[in-house]
Amino acid sequence: MSTLTKKRVAILISGRGSNMSALLAAAADPDYPAEIVGVVSDKADAAGLGIAAARGVPAQAIARADHASKDAHDAAIDAALTKLDAEIVALAGYMRLLTAPFVEKWQGRMINIHPALLPSLKGLDTHRRALEAGMRVHGCTVHFVTPEMDDGPIIAQAAVPVMLGDDEDALAARVLKAEHRLYPKALRLVAEGKVRMQGGRAVFSGLAEDPAGEASSLFSPGALRDAVDLEALARFTP
Ligand code: GRF
Repeated sequence: MSTLTKKRVAILISGRGSNMSALLAAAADPDYPAEIVGVVSDKADAAGLGIAAARGVPAQAIARADHASKDAHDAAIDAALTKLDAEIVALAGYMRLLTAPFVEKWQGRMINIHPALLPSLKGLDTHRRALEAGMRVHGCTVHFVTPEMDDGPIIAQAAVPVMLGDDEDALAARVLKAEHRLYPKALRLVAEGKVRMQGGRAVFSGLAEDPAGEASSLFSPGALRDAVDLEALARFTP
């Protein structure tokens, strides 16, 4: 039996929960350094709630409409996280801005995945905006959460090409595949204490030194090659 002490992770969602599912799948590995102790959604009809429950993970909705203010809503979520004994909070498609007191309380222990290469394309509709801007490279970012939206220190990024002829759906699907590979890697680093938020930056320590190892895989799409259709990539003309 593994003697690994796993970090207790709660996931906040608002919808489909595919990134949540990727984290649950990673955490099913006995050697993964985190366990998912609960899922909270701000939407009662979030599909992700059913997926989590089916896997035996406590899942609950805490709806904004049931609370008098944003502060009261976040306080209720905070109380649920405290009850779960969560040590790390992973936002996975949580579509509501969190209040500053909540973020400050969890700062350094709360991470988010954003479907773009930050600091470009903060906010919504990132795939449409990437196409409109004619970007040839797009991707996703896992970062520590700070009160400013999509602004916290970057932990890990994965790049994917924008193909000629891509529409929003095709590009979104390619990025989403990369998200599902990147988020478990990034959470692992946080759970192992190999990345910490210090002085407003992500500070790394104890990463494997070899070129194909953790340090390079943080930034290299090569480590995420399954996320890219290699035949299509060969046809790609920058
Ligand atoms: C993902 O693209 C994530 O990056 C963004 O919202 C989407 C959530 O999708 N923050 P899912 O619920 O994880 O499937």
